[in-house]
Amino acid sequence: MRFRGLYPDCTDVEIDAEIRALDLRERSADGRPYTVANFVTSLDGRASVQGRSGALGDDGDKALFHALRGAVDAVLVGTRTLAAERYGRIISDPELRERRRAEGAAPEPLTAVLTRSGRLPLEIPLFAEPEARVVVFAPGALELGDTAAHVEVVQLAQDALDFRHALAHLRTGYDVRACLCEGGPTVLSRLLHERSVDELFLTLAPKLVGGGLAPALTTGAALPELAGAELAGVLEHAGTLFLRYRRRI
Ligand SMILES: NC(=O)c1ccc[n+]([C@@H]2O[C@H](COP(=O)([O-])OP(=O)(O)OC[C@H]3O[C@@H](n4cnc5c(N)ncnc54)[C@H](OP(=O)(O)O)[C@@H]3O)[C@@H](O)[C@H]2O)c1
Repeated sequence: MRFRGLYPDCTDVEIDAEIRALDLRERSADGRPYTVANFVTSLDGRASVQGRSGALGDDGDKALFHALRGAVDAVLVGTRTLAAERYGRIISDPELRERRRAEGAAPEPLTAVLTRSGRLPLEIPLFAEPEARVVVFAPGALELGDTAAHVEVVQLAQDALDFRHALAHLRTGYDVRACLCEGGPTVLSRLLHERSVDELFLTLAPKLVGGGLAPALTTGAALPELAGAELAGVLEHAGTLFLRYRRRI
């Protein structure tokens, strides 16, 4: 799908090629994967409508979402997002899986989840998918029932049960060089607190939710100090803006 380039270059781009050209895997450093977050918000900063984000996005948002999935080794997602969005397999397009395989990557990114309670939404399609690979970071062994997906539980001690340790483990234990955080706001907030987000892909949907009940992009306690970000790119498609920010250290 073609997007209009607005910054830094005013040339049209094909979104899949544009994301591939970023070479996210080559950016991994500091013993953890290069970690990008992808979120959509309304103009008034809301991250979901009636508990889901789908109504905010459009075809362009979906194209970016899939292009990013195609370019990473793992998708990090919160248990509530897994449940709310009823996750299935990460890459459903067989051609894309084949392309990844031909390039020496796993056909699909791992799904990575961190749970302190051990409560996973095992009823969602992802866990019934025999080809899905899921890594769950948890404080102890989990009862997984008869899931068809390949699920590995990595036990982390209570004082190491955070995203920083989980990301380091993904890098060393699973050779994950690029990780995509797909939310939700709780996970993004924890990652920001732990200084583990390298880039934010922020889709600004030309829609207004109104009111103050729908969640925002982040939640919980504010960061100890404002975190700066550097604008890395702006694309447009059908009135939606696709912003890309690098976190400034
Ligand atoms: N606009 C967007 O782009 C976008 C993207 C994704 C999701 N969403 C929306 O966001 C909503 C879900 O987001 P959410 O914020 O409620 O949940 P979430 O971020 O998906 O998941 C939260 C879960 O993460 C686990 N967790 C791990 N470490 C944690 C820590 N240190 N502190 C707190 N929790 C921790 C907790 O599970 P345990 O209790 O098991 O530890 C917690 O329940 C849905 O409505 C979804 O549609 C929007």
